[in-house]
Amino acid sequence: MEGGSRWIFGKRLEMVRSGKVGQRLGGSSHRPGAGPHRNSIRRSTNQDLADIRAWLEEEEERKVPGNFLCNFALIEAGHKRGELLVFIDGKVGRPAGYQLGGLIRPGILQVRHEYRRKGIGRKLVERCISLALRREQPLLYITCEPPTSIPFWNAMGFTLLANRGHPVAAYRVLGKSFVLPAPGEPIDVVVSFYPNERQWDPGTAAVHSDSPAACLTPDHVVHLERRVALHEEIIEGYGDAMVEITINESRVYLDKAKYPESTSIGVKRCINGYFIDQIRLDATQLVLTD
Ligand SMILES: CC(C)(COP(=O)(O)OP(=O)(O)OC[C@H]1O[C@@H](n2cnc3c(N)ncnc32)[C@H](O)[C@@H]1OP(=O)(O)O)[C@@H](O)C(=O)NCCC(=O)NCCS
Repeated sequence: MEGGSRWIFGKRLEMVRSGKVGQRLGGSSHRPGAGPHRNSIRRSTNQDLADIRAWLEEEEERKVPGNFLCNFALIEAGHKRGELLVFIDGKVGRPAGYQLGGLIRPGILQVRHEYRRKGIGRKLVERCISLALRREQPLLYITCEPPTSIPFWNAMGFTLLANRGHPVAAYRVLGKSFVLPAPGEPIDVVVSFYPNERQWDPGTAAVHSDSPAACLTPDHVVHLERRVALHEEIIEGYGDAMVEITINESRVYLDKAKYPESTSIGVKRCINGYFIDQIRLDATQLVLTD
């Protein structure tokens, strides 16, 4: 079986997909995703926390770079909240990496020194991404601390936020595609996000604008082929984000993204910004005529 999950004592045990990680970790006798040596990513247990503490203390003694022993209280608090993810090397049954923060908020990601560059960091990031998508949190935000982790975060698709001082922060927007409903009528849509000054200055440039293929269905819903999202970090310091919706070259909406009217139209709030999957035209009080 490739990855997948199974139920044990009423809890779902999610298994890491086979391939790169298992092969790199296990050598020839280790068959990834099979037998008792499966690698897995799961929520931490008390034993995992104790193992992580021993690992970090041991690496502290060896002066291994990129060790978060100084933040152990945060790691422990995350464990108690049930938010600490661990990558378990199935061969030895102990954590080889952990992640805290889910990539939604600045957190901690650390891989055991002798396990680095074997794909474990990537696997933990991929797991966080699938959890974030499941929770409708498509806007990721992290800090690159220590700065030696910047090449890793670049490789994970993150964009650095320049000129923000220390530590360097980075974000990533997770896209989502949709199949347009067959009975829909094709329609031109532009969704734009602006800094707050757009309220009084029509010359303000949009910080993000997108015009996905779209269609209108008889229930007055405009379906977008892909999600349009604004990561608030990119307008940090520019006040409340404004959202503008233009349909067939006519503006149908322009107001603060945080207003309830925007929510009625289809603007969704998430921890790090806003996104739109569908636009409910009846909420804009717009009547489309041929
Ligand atoms: C950063 C860290 C989490 C990466 O974990 P990892 O398991 O070693 O990373 P992966 O093997 O999954 O690497 C994925 C890709 O990232 C890039 N990458 C990772 N480490 C890199 C490095 N030191 N230099 C350049 N590129 C790097 C590579 O493109 C790599 O792909 P490749 O191995 O196929 O070339 C790990 O090095 C670590 O624990 N460092 C100390 C703590 C830290 O810096 N944490 C991050 C901030 S919280």
